[in-house]
Amino acid sequence: MRDKLKGKSFLTLKDFSKEEIRFILDTAHKLKADRKEGIYHQLFKGLSLAMIFEKPSTRTRCAFETAFGEEGGHPVFLSVNDIQLGKKETIEDTARVLGRMFDAIEFRGFKQETVNKLAEYSGVPVFNGLTDLYHPTQIIADLMTVEEKLGGLEGKNLVYVGDGRNNMAHSLMIGCAKMGVNITIVCPESLSPLKEVEEYTKLVAKESNSKVIITDNIKDGFNNAHVIYTDVWVSMGEEEQSKERIELLQPYQVNSTTLSYTNNPNVIFMHCLPAVRGLEVTHDVLESEQSVVWDEAENRKHSIKAIMFALI
Ligand code: CP
Ligand code: NVA
Repeated sequence: MRDKLKGKSFLTLKDFSKEEIRFILDTAHKLKADRKEGIYHQLFKGLSLAMIFEKPSTRTRCAFETAFGEEGGHPVFLSVNDIQLGKKETIEDTARVLGRMFDAIEFRGFKQETVNKLAEYSGVPVFNGLTDLYHPTQIIADLMTVEEKLGGLEGKNLVYVGDGRNNMAHSLMIGCAKMGVNITIVCPESLSPLKEVEEYTKLVAKESNSKVIITDNIKDGFNNAHVIYTDVWVSMGEEEQSKERIELLQPYQVNSTTLSYTNNPNVIFMHCLPAVRGLEVTHDVLESEQSVVWDEAENRKHSIKAIMFALI
């Protein structure tokens, strides 16, 4: 499987089959177990990774940087304030230059088009560390966490609540549908997922025998959930919409009352983080026994290591 994946970019989960995602997940579990035993493989010895950030990051940056470094590689952090990307130099030209110096590139930023262009022109694997449209590396950590906590993926009911048209909602829909997880998006109609993502996800779900439901009814949507997942109500770059967004999403907060709509005392709570306590989730739910957010955050590192191992 690694021979097939080698050299490929990780831009969206659309580009990966169920078997390929399975391979990355199995690798992530193995690398996590090895690290717990202090076993390192020098997977990236002699290699270098450019890490471009247009937006801030704690988890994604630290996961890429430490995962690559502890396996013998040399990660180089490049904030867009330090390089010319798209300002004094076209994205295509920057991509070609970085491709001559680095073995792989990570990019976090606004437009999906930018990360696509970096992949097209650099000639090396490019990893999408979040764009306005998708956040695919997060989903590998999320699926890994669901497997750890619930013992499997197929037939599980994952309910995402909040902003249904952000990067997390879109990538969760695709990742869940590919892996046979039933996905429900609970959101106000005006924040529904992009139609093209919905249509694509429904097609994939047919193949994997899973369900895709989009509803504005939190009570119905939460019923029988195995996982309740939320994300910030205001994503990076949308700060001017804060006031209206917070008003609109108030009924969609994850709190002890809404969590009880699941009718499942063993439901787990997930969040990609960073979380705004008191908005999308209450402090008590985030700190509860049901919350698995710290394991989920840790899994960013193991899963990103697995993605890089599979593709570089
Ligand atoms: N979940 C996630 O991507 O976190 P960061 O924004 O801190 O990287
Ligand atoms: N939707 C959030 C995800 C943060 C990891 C954002 O884009 O800000």
